[in-house]
Amino acid sequence: MSEIEKIESETLARIAASQTIAALDDVRVAALGKKGVISERMKSLGKMDPEARKSAGAAYNTLKAKIAAAIDAKKTQLENAELDRRLATETLDVTLPIAPLPKGRIHPVTQVTEEIIAIFSAMGFDVAEGPDIEDDFHNFTALNFPPDHPAREMHDTFFFNEKEDGSRMLLRTHTSPVQIRTMMSQKPPIRIIIPGRTFRCDSDQTHTPMFHQVEGLVIDRETHMGHLKGTLEAFCSAFFEVDSVKTRFRPHFFPFTEPSAEMDIGYERVGNEIRMGAGEKWMEILGCGMVHPNVLRNCGLDPDIYQGFAFGMGVDRLAMLKYGIPDLRDFFAADARWLTHYGFDPLDQPNLSTGLSR
Ligand code: DAH
Repeated sequence: MSEIEKIESETLARIAASQTIAALDDVRVAALGKKGVISERMKSLGKMDPEARKSAGAAYNTLKAKIAAAIDAKKTQLENAELDRRLATETLDVTLPIAPLPKGRIHPVTQVTEEIIAIFSAMGFDVAEGPDIEDDFHNFTALNFPPDHPAREMHDTFFFNEKEDGSRMLLRTHTSPVQIRTMMSQKPPIRIIIPGRTFRCDSDQTHTPMFHQVEGLVIDRETHMGHLKGTLEAFCSAFFEVDSVKTRFRPHFFPFTEPSAEMDIGYERVGNEIRMGAGEKWMEILGCGMVHPNVLRNCGLDPDIYQGFAFGMGVDRLAMLKYGIPDLRDFFAADARWLTHYGFDPLDQPNLSTGLSR
């Protein structure tokens, strides 16, 4: 066997025996590298006579090409094997449930707020927000609470210390001040809902010092009680997911609306279950009315041109009703067991097409 044949058969055998790309690369360097066996042999070509050099040179070049081709082929083979191995081990069945299940849960207040937003968005309402810390003007005065009116006390307000000018900031007692902020900064037509935190000094099974409301406000040139009733009834049947709801409007008093009403929704108790929308019993779920002309004037709107309706509902209370949660104080106790039980899957985003609750 000639020298060249020996190198060829040995190198091809080592190529065939390589199990990894790294091992294959070692073979390449040992054969074709600058200091590899073929390069070393070719250095001695210079000492040969021209005839012999010619044929030996050609033979070495052929050998080089043969080995390079064998290495390429082996490399492709190793790469394919590696890909096959990964495809076999990294399979992913996208139809399987997510495992492990995500630990985080969405709080019922967040979920219900999202549900309410989904329903009103579909009716063309925008979402507006305002600060938790308010002044007397936005929380009371502009909303037509007369000075020293007992209604101010009704709200059990948390006040901050007096400022130098004698005024006191407060934690907003309702989301209604955002009505004022919106009417003073936007031109009608206005159609907004205002979700947010509210604060009153109160605590028992159905009251907590911090709670949540969603306010609604519509201002346009021809707005009347019929629009108000229609909007709220459509909301209730969407929210409680029943085809039609039994509702009733009772006259009430709010300084910022005239006339004012409270809306009750019919329900019945079947065993341990409360069924909303039908039945002989009534449950109050929100306050509402036609925006008082004084409120419009306080915001620079002419009540002879613009009318509007407003409503305010307690989000926590709606969550208790819809999801059968007995005590409001548990909402804010930060108990992980409670949240695991009453919380929602983070991927379960409420929307009207796939359903509000699942
Ligand atoms: N702000 C009222 C409250 O906190 C709720 C309310 C009632 C809001 C009637 C309104 C409304 O906008 O028109 O009790």
